[in-house]
Amino acid sequence: MHWLLLTILGHHVARAAFESNENSLKVLLFWAVDSANRTQENVVRNVAYARRMGARQCCDVMLAHYEGSSDDWNKAWYLNEVTSSMRKPGYKFKFLQEAYREEWPQKYEFVWALDSDIDFTGVNLVQLFELARSSGSLIIGPTFSGDQAWKTYATNLLTEGTGRKALVRRDVKEREQINVLGKPDPRCMMRHTDFVEMTAPLLSSTVLSLILKDCVDCIHEHAEWGLDRVWCEMASEKFSVSACTLLDATPVRHLDWQTAKITPDFWEAERKVKEKYAKYWAQVRNIDCMLAHKQQRVTIDPHGNIQDMSLGGRIQVYPSH
Ligand SMILES: *[C@@H]1O[C@H](CO)[C@@H](O)[C@H](O)[C@H]1NC(C)=O
Repeated sequence: MHWLLLTILGHHVARAAFESNENSLKVLLFWAVDSANRTQENVVRNVAYARRMGARQCCDVMLAHYEGSSDDWNKAWYLNEVTSSMRKPGYKFKFLQEAYREEWPQKYEFVWALDSDIDFTGVNLVQLFELARSSGSLIIGPTFSGDQAWKTYATNLLTEGTGRKALVRRDVKEREQINVLGKPDPRCMMRHTDFVEMTAPLLSSTVLSLILKDCVDCIHEHAEWGLDRVWCEMASEKFSVSACTLLDATPVRHLDWQTAKITPDFWEAERKVKEKYAKYWAQVRNIDCMLAHKQQRVTIDPHGNIQDMSLGGRIQVYPSH
């Protein structure tokens, strides 16, 4: 079945996306966007860059307009570059859930679910996709380069009202864990982890039906926290793999515009997901590391130290930063 499928698709697509020779499927670049000038410029630049690196037919582009509409964008560009779009208020994963079609796995190798303040134009995408494939994982996060670039997830809340600040403080330790995990680790090419956050995950199309359909009540109507706390363990169990990987060698820039308006619904959504799927709840930890300087996977202990025991009885320790 699989064979047949690849053979048929091979006739239609002359060159594979991002130099995969295993198949000829495309990548779907999926953005939730407003119509702000900086959003348009960033999306336009990143689409152009992806097509330059992966060939014209590398990618389909889908835009979900949560504010503004396609009318605000350059018409010629839109016609040429955008495969499909939707327009309504909401959040990225809710949109993705609505847009998802059962035939996607036959069309797309990956769906890249991007926040509009992610800039991958500094990254070698060929390498990024090679690493993603060789990881054996299904949910792959780029790490975030730059000083405060990895300030994502709950950190936005610090600028909000006092009531919510109290909620934030409760989770300071957890937030710190998330931020540290999401920064590039110079010792590693990539790491298997039990957590990849929602900012810019590269989702194998194999895992989409699990997280968008089977995972009931994982994506709430008015908020989408929680999904990323359970999807790694859920997918690991279902597919018997280490389902999540963070790519240290190919960090992307997170411009950190903090456009997401976090409401109490977000905390409520997360609480409900945790209650329902407690057994999948991520500790936010590293599982192992593919070393940067040699092709080898080693474990990372709870203190973040790496022990390389491959040296014939000698143990080499690479301490955490
Ligand atoms: C954004 O603003 C700059 C400066 O005003 C302008 O030159 C550019 O065309 C704008 N870009 C878009 C996509 O509207």
